[in-house]
Amino acid sequence: MRTLWRKTLDGITPYEAGRPLEHLARELGLGDLVRLSANESPLGPSPRAIAAIEREAARAHLYPDGSSGELRAALGERLGVSPGQIIAGNGADELLALIAWAAFEPGDEVVVPHPAFEPYETVARLMGARVERSPLRRYETDLDDIRRRVTPTTKAIFLCSPHNPAATIVRRGPLEGLLAALGDDPPLVVLDEAYRDFCDDPEYHDGVSLLPRYPRLIVLRTFSKIAGLAGLRVGYGIGTAETIDRLNRVRAPYNVNRLGQVAALAALGDTEHSRRTRAVVIEERAFLSQELSRRGYAFPPSQANFLLVHIPGAPAVRERLLRAGLIVRDGAAVGFPDHLRISVGLREASRRLLAVLDGG
Ligand SMILES: Cc1ncc(COP(=O)(O)O)c(C=O)c1O
Repeated sequence: MRTLWRKTLDGITPYEAGRPLEHLARELGLGDLVRLSANESPLGPSPRAIAAIEREAARAHLYPDGSSGELRAALGERLGVSPGQIIAGNGADELLALIAWAAFEPGDEVVVPHPAFEPYETVARLMGARVERSPLRRYETDLDDIRRRVTPTTKAIFLCSPHNPAATIVRRGPLEGLLAALGDDPPLVVLDEAYRDFCDDPEYHDGVSLLPRYPRLIVLRTFSKIAGLAGLRVGYGIGTAETIDRLNRVRAPYNVNRLGQVAALAALGDTEHSRRTRAVVIEERAFLSQELSRRGYAFPPSQANFLLVHIPGAPAVRERLLRAGLIVRDGAAVGFPDHLRISVGLREASRRLLAVLDGG
């Protein structure tokens, strides 16, 4: 008998993204279903991005610019790096896969905080690399533990800051300490900053500014969160020109679609919309945090657009919330049993959520 499928796949389960919102709404007979399980933007995309999509729609029969050139040029200008140091991807998700394709081989080790955003482990295992899990210290990434796990065969370290699902950050000082301690022949350090725009902690890092000193860093960012373009799938990575050249060798020819490119470019130009989205998330995060604390719920202070709340009997609470039209993520699915991960929504959604928790 031929063996058709790779043995590694036996140990991999498909990513559970949840049922499409529209199906659930129909099934539950709820017109006003609010999804607070996917860390999407409560404000949606910029009107300028919507207009750009509409203008571009009639050109959908034409392949996009395979290099996402205009978008990379605009990002380069914004970030003060050359476009050759940037790669655009079909979401930051794709960039994780490209890094794994380009760098990981059987025998490599990859150090990953645990729990953390699942695809880090999946992409490593798919390439035959061995995943070395570094347990969180309660809700915090343990940089000392990560450093202790690095060996001469470590190919990469993944860092997620703000962390999904814990919502905590790695602070600038300790991060630089780790990078310095890794020496002159360090592994790749993938610094996932998907939620960076919601941080207000002055100790938060700026991965891009660390690149000149730590050239094996790869910083990942996305238009899914702050720009509200999750449905179009546009992320980007910043690294040295050499890193980006390697990633381009494994990239599909037209990996970012036409509508995504123009929408991301327009979103980048609408700094007022980004500012407002950040302000709303930070304000509503404070409101929800305060109200939950007042009711005795415990959770790590969030630097992201979601909260990881300790709730005994979380699955039953999740069911009650669902029946009230609010979808939240069961913590057990992301490594935190007895927790719910709740995206920060608008005030109305928070009030509905609190009413259900209050037994209303
Ligand atoms: C930590 C983290 N990194 C990356 C991503 C993926 O972002 P994108 O939508 O750009 O693929 C997510 C999505 O939720 C995330 O939570």
